[in-house]
Amino acid sequence: MKILVTGGIGYIGSHTCVELLKNGYEVVIVDNLYNAKEDVVDKIETITGRRPVFYKVDIKDRDALEKVFEQHSIDAVIHFAGYKAVGESVEKPLEYYNNNIYGTLVLMEKMKKFGCMQIVFSSSATVYGLNNSVPYTEDMPTSATNPYGWTKVMIEQIMRDFGAAEADFSAVLLRYFNPIGAHKSGLLGDDPNGIPNNLMPYISRVAAGKLPVLSIFGNDYDTADGTGVRDYIHVVDLAQGHLRALEYASKHTGVDEVNIGTGHGTSVLELVSAFERASGVKVPYTIVPRRAGDIASCYADTKKAAELLGWSAKLSVDEMCADTWNFTQKAK
Ligand code: WQD
Repeated sequence: MKILVTGGIGYIGSHTCVELLKNGYEVVIVDNLYNAKEDVVDKIETITGRRPVFYKVDIKDRDALEKVFEQHSIDAVIHFAGYKAVGESVEKPLEYYNNNIYGTLVLMEKMKKFGCMQIVFSSSATVYGLNNSVPYTEDMPTSATNPYGWTKVMIEQIMRDFGAAEADFSAVLLRYFNPIGAHKSGLLGDDPNGIPNNLMPYISRVAAGKLPVLSIFGNDYDTADGTGVRDYIHVVDLAQGHLRALEYASKHTGVDEVNIGTGHGTSVLELVSAFERASGVKVPYTIVPRRAGDIASCYADTKKAAELLGWSAKLSVDEMCADTWNFTQKAK
């Protein structure tokens, strides 16, 4: 089977391409390199011994995307391409709606034109908004508190509506919790441009001496140690979940939302301690006021992923930290 992976050069996309190639799929990547470096293609080949086809293409470029579908008989799509910084989306809502929503509409238009009716979409636990109680289940109402989150809510709805109109359409909307970790080779990992928004890349840069101190956003939440609790999932577990979703989509029609998490919550302080154990390096931190929009606890109910996809996370928080540290050391 030949899979088109949009945003396949990015953190989660590249790990997913590795798993696809290891499992015999043919892979075609389109990525505009907005938040990724082209040498990731070489790293994917080094890890797997197989080179994906890569096009520097923005999915909003209708003609360029059409050419890719003309040149390759695409069986299914895994759609990662999109902006994903919560804070930036508040400052630049039009860019986020244009890039994430319009880009997805162009992609789905080309999929329909070329008869490719299977997709796995990179959604997010952020769609659970502020009004649901943990553990989150897929039947809960969705909402958002920022334009980035709204793009995920809206794209999920676009896919459900398209599925209602097209009987042979099959979509699995994977709601990621907090992806962290790195490929065991140390060649792939989360290496955002600029100052990291997310906790784990920030911790790893403090441990590596690239940043002086970690700011912990609040220790007065209603959690065991007062710091924010999240469901961290190893990016390789997450990547393997995409292959199970792809297999499911090839055998079923309709649209399914599925949580991809471990079902366990880890606090900021617990993650810092785990990272210090894994790296042997102290991570200095200071407690600062809460970050606007943050919630106390967020973790998944994982029953549907197990029942529908036959998938569950296998790797531990300690392994997530050890693999992150290995990547950080190699990326020096
Ligand atoms: C985790 C915890 C922070 C940084 C976001 C997006 C979500 C998804 C994953 C795309 C929280 C605390 C963080 C720091 C800190 N992205 N923290 N100091 O906010 O759960 O989720 O990334 O899909 O959509 O919302 O992840 O890593 O930013 O924060 O104390 O420097 O770490 O308060 O409790 P978050 P995060």
